[in-house]
Amino acid sequence: VAAAREAGVGHAEPTASGRTQPWPNDPYPAGSGVAQRYATLRALLGGQLDPDDVVAVLAESGLRGMGGAGFPTGKKWELVRAAEPGGVKYAICNADESEPGTFKDRQILADQPHLVLEGLLLGMAVVGAEQGWVFIRHEYGPEERVLRAELAALRAAGVVGPDACGSGRRLEVDIFTSPGGYILGEETALIECMEGHRGEPRNKPPFPGTYGLHGRPTLMNSVETFADVPVILTRGAQWWRDQGRGQAVGWKFFAVSGHVQRAGVYCVPMGTTVRELIARAGGVSGGAGVGAVQPGGASSNFIGPDQLDLPLDFAPLAEAGTMLGSGALVVLAEGTDLLTAATNVLRFFRNESCGKCVPCRVGSTKAHELLTGVLAAGSSRLDEAQHARVLQLEEAMRKTSICGLGQVALGPVVSVLGLDKGGASARPQPRPDGAPEQPTR
Ligand code: NAI
Ligand code: SF4
Repeated sequence: VAAAREAGVGHAEPTASGRTQPWPNDPYPAGSGVAQRYATLRALLGGQLDPDDVVAVLAESGLRGMGGAGFPTGKKWELVRAAEPGGVKYAICNADESEPGTFKDRQILADQPHLVLEGLLLGMAVVGAEQGWVFIRHEYGPEERVLRAELAALRAAGVVGPDACGSGRRLEVDIFTSPGGYILGEETALIECMEGHRGEPRNKPPFPGTYGLHGRPTLMNSVETFADVPVILTRGAQWWRDQGRGQAVGWKFFAVSGHVQRAGVYCVPMGTTVRELIARAGGVSGGAGVGAVQPGGASSNFIGPDQLDLPLDFAPLAEAGTMLGSGALVVLAEGTDLLTAATNVLRFFRNESCGKCVPCRVGSTKAHELLTGVLAAGSSRLDEAQHARVLQLEEAMRKTSICGLGQVALGPVVSVLGLDKGGASARPQPRPDGAPEQPTR
C-alpha cells in the first residue's frame, strides 16, 4: 500500500486503500495511467465534446448530488454555467465528509482519485472556472496524499496547468485542507472558511451556484458526484440509468457500519434494498435480527425491521419518512436501546452546532438534557409531557434553524419514538429539491 501511495494511484496496483479489484463503475482499465484516463476531459477541451451536451447528458442521466441532498447535477451545472458568462467563477469538490457512519468518499478518494479530479476538471471547463479546489477533511491524510500524487502526475502531463491538454485554457486545481469541524462540510460554511472567516453557514438563498466563493458563481459538488460525471460521459446517460434497479439510476457507494459482520464500503446498483445491502455486509453480527437502521447517515431517521425491503433510492426513502442522505447505512441489532443510540446522535449534533442560530444552539442542548435525564433515571421511555416537549423542540428546530444540522438534529430521536410506538419513522425528513414537506405528525 505504501508503495502504491508513493507511486501515485494512477499508476499502481493495489490502490491506496489496498484494493486490487476495480470498482464496477470505473470506465477506465485497472492500473491505467494519466495517458489513458482523462479521455472525456481531453475531448471537451479539444472541442470534440460540447459543454452544453455535457450538461444535457448529466440531466438525462438523472444524476443527483451524492453529498446528501440529491439536487439534480445537470441543473446545478447549467445554473452555474449560465451565471455571469465570462466572469470569474470557481469550482470546489467537497471532500469534507464527516457525517457519523459516512466514509464512502474516503474510499473513492483512495481508489478513484482520477474520476474525482476528472469530474472536477470537467465541471470547471463546463462552467468556465479556471481555478478549482478539493476541500478535504483534515483527518483524510492518506487520501490527501493520493490526491496530491495524482495532481502532480496531471501537472507533469500538462492536463492541469496554464495550457490544459494543449487547449490554451488555464485549469488549476489545489487542495484546501479543512481546519476541522463537522459544520465546515455545509457548503456555505465551507466557503466562509475558505475566505478566512469563521466557519458558519450563510442563509440560503443565494446559493453558491450564483453567489459562492468571494461572491462569485461557484460549482460545488461532493466527491462521489464529481466521480460519477466521467463515468456517465464515457458510458452514456442510458447506460447509467440502466445500472439502477427499478426507477433508480446508476451505481451508488454506501458505507455500511454498526452491528454487521463486514462493515465497509460497497458499490451497488441504486435501488438495492436495505435488506440486500445488509446481506452484502455479511448480515447482522452474531446472527441477530435487525433492531433499526439509519439508511442515510446520522442525519437520517431510523427505520424499523418491517421496512428492510425499501429500495435505497431518494424517493422511496423520502416517502418512508427518511432519506438516502450521505450514503451511510448504520445497522443496530435487535435489543439495542434505540433511545440511547438516538441520544448519541443528538449529542454529536449538539457538540457540532456552530452556535450561530438560537434554535439549534439552545434547542439541541435542551433536548439533550431532557433525554440524558431520562436515560440517567434508568428509563428508555419518555412520559407524555417529555414526548410532547421533544416534538415541540424538533418542530421549532426544523422550521427555524439556518442550516441542515439544526433542521435534522432531533429527527433521529423523534423517529425512534415513533418506532417505539410500533410505527414507522415519526417525522418526515426534509425533502430534496424543495419537494413539498409532508405534514408534521
Ligand atoms: P440543500 O438542499 O440546501 O442543497 C443541496 C444542493 O443544491 C446545494 O449545493 C445547494 O446549493 C443546491 N441548491 C438547492 N436549491 C438550489 C436552487 N434553488 N438553486 C441553486 N442551487 C440550489 O442541502 P444541503 O444543506 O447542502 O445538504 C443537506 C444534506 O447534506 C443532508 O441531507 C445530509 O444528508 C447531507 N450531509 C452530508 C454530510 C456528509 O458528510 N456527506 C454531512 C452532513 C450532512
Ligand atoms: Fe449553526 Fe446550528 Fe444554526 Fe446550522 S443550524 S447555522 S449549525 S447554529
